[in-house]
Amino acid sequence: MSSIPSVAPNTALASRFRSARCRTLALVEPLTPEDMMVQSCPEASPAKWHLAHTTWFFESFVLREFLPGYKIFHPDFAWLFNSYYQSFAAFPEKRLRSSFSRPSLDEILRYRAHVDDAIERLLEADAEPEALKRIELGANHEEQHQELLLTDILHALFTNPLRPAYKSGLDPSAQSQIELEPAQWIELEGGLTDVGHAGSAFSFDNELPRHRVWLEPYALADRLVTNGEFADFIADGGYKRPELWLSAGWDTVLREGWRAPLYWSNTDGAWTLFTLRGEQSLDAMRAAPVSQVSYYEADAYARWAGRRLATEFEWEAAAEALPIEGNLLDSENLMPVPAVQLAAFPAERLIRDEGRGQYQCWGDCWEWTASAYLGYPGFHPLSGSLGEYNGKFMSGQMVLRGGSCVTPAAHIRASYRNFFGPETRWQFSGIRLAKDTTEMQ
Ligand SMILES: [Fe+2]
Repeated sequence: MSSIPSVAPNTALASRFRSARCRTLALVEPLTPEDMMVQSCPEASPAKWHLAHTTWFFESFVLREFLPGYKIFHPDFAWLFNSYYQSFAAFPEKRLRSSFSRPSLDEILRYRAHVDDAIERLLEADAEPEALKRIELGANHEEQHQELLLTDILHALFTNPLRPAYKSGLDPSAQSQIELEPAQWIELEGGLTDVGHAGSAFSFDNELPRHRVWLEPYALADRLVTNGEFADFIADGGYKRPELWLSAGWDTVLREGWRAPLYWSNTDGAWTLFTLRGEQSLDAMRAAPVSQVSYYEADAYARWAGRRLATEFEWEAAAEALPIEGNLLDSENLMPVPAVQLAAFPAERLIRDEGRGQYQCWGDCWEWTASAYLGYPGFHPLSGSLGEYNGKFMSGQMVLRGGSCVTPAAHIRASYRNFFGPETRWQFSGIRLAKDTTEMQ
């Protein structure tokens, strides 16, 4: 009796694979070869490296093991484009990735084509279930790097004195007249709640096993905190009041000289915000969600507002029934937009009209949660080198939920756990407030 693979049939998988590979190439179209070499902060990688590393993943974890007769493209690429898989091969220091002027961009594009052809051959052959699972994992890995590619290039363009736009064509000044109502509260009962991934569709190992948690009654804000509201926090001395900050957060404020979110600049008292669509005035962006804030800033804002951040399970319980629709990469806004701009997101409008859920659950900004990134009870990392994918980062990081304006829609789900250190702020990371609705005994 043959076992049934827990992956989609080959045709659906082939389509997922092709669309992921094509989209990565589409995302670098606005970039010059010089843009693709920049590595402007330690967290980031050059776009050219992303092109190569995502290809390396398929070659290393799929083709070498599962395609008989596969011809390695270049023997040095196995270690050159390894990111952090210690048990697979050595790898260069991350900070040196911008010095990879060789191999050339042309050679990396040929590497991509070579690997793509080989994966297509494997998909046409009678590939074993584990190979199909690895291809699906590779497509999901590629989507993660699509988001990283855009967040990294945003930082690269921000550090360029010319502040060039990645893409023009959206006029945020159209948002400048939007007046949002104060956030409303969505009340949730809590109780014994199942969390974690359910079903046979793809998930990462860190979303498993599904298990039960207890939630006290709570409430979530029905939208994200806006730039305008965050400007009020700044104007009220938010970055100058140690009582609002966690100790490590305050140390970071002092050490880094933080006065505002990462891409805010102040000239003669007027704030501007840098986006993938170029520099924008705060006035034009006032109703859009604040983004590129660290966990420390999200926590300090919540304390200033007399509220708190949700735990990851409070967030998941509120999100699980909501259709995945919102300002994700597929909308091509490439920046967070105000909660009232819902014409393109009818499901989200429906949620609001029926009072069933919260705006901006999916997309716009990843939402910092108050939960440390840990393995679930019974967590088992993948076997072999792929066990290093998620599990080894389970210390010193906080969980973020919900995806951002540069997350592919096919990539996100209610159980998805993103994670970064609490000082990290080059991602599209924002704030949703939460509160308790009963006094704890
Ligand atoms: Fe990776």
